[in-house]
Amino acid sequence: MALRLGDVAPNFKAQTTSGEIDLYEYLGNGWGVLFSHPADYTPVCTTELGKTALLGEEFAKRNVKVLAVSVDPIDKHEGWVKDINETQNTTVNFPLIADPDRTVSTLYDMIHPNASATATVRSLFIIGPDKLVKLIITYPASTGRNFLEVIRVIDSLQLTAGYSVATPADWKAGEDVIVVPAVSTEDAIKKFPKGVKVVKPYLRYTPQPNL
Ligand code: BEZ
Repeated sequence: MALRLGDVAPNFKAQTTSGEIDLYEYLGNGWGVLFSHPADYTPVCTTELGKTALLGEEFAKRNVKVLAVSVDPIDKHEGWVKDINETQNTTVNFPLIADPDRTVSTLYDMIHPNASATATVRSLFIIGPDKLVKLIITYPASTGRNFLEVIRVIDSLQLTAGYSVATPADWKAGEDVIVVPAVSTEDAIKKFPKGVKVVKPYLRYTPQPNL
């Protein structure tokens, strides 16, 4: 059955461009982003992996480790990484999983047969330090993902984990956040010393607490 939010992210061992990796060991106590792409040496995928590499410091700052996966073999990944580095002006600094036998793709339901019988779609999973799935997105092969949006979601998830707040539509880091419904307004006033703006009893804002 397909994975859903809150499910345990299945562990696996896989061959990667950084040697054999055990997912849980690789992630340690941090966060993870596992994402699939349809195929090596394709244009949209080249830009996606380049962008992910360019955002390496942003992921590291947030204690997030990244892994990419496709059904291509390791030698193909290695050749393609050189092209990504050259064309996207970056250095790919995260492992690419080679999944020719589809172990990882099957565990994470990354092959959608009505889209392509063989290639992985653009699936992306954010995995929390508790190894639970926090976000699932799936894009078609023809649309490159927005990796700044992935960072934005990680910021939101980390705020929720640390401070019992949620983030409103189109929220950007630095803007006010929302007090979660589970916290009463009385408790919120004690918990958030920067102030609580009550628009409705169920709609309460507070400045981003970790700034
Ligand atoms: C691409 O990465 O450019 C791509 C891959 C498969 C289908 C269409 C585009």
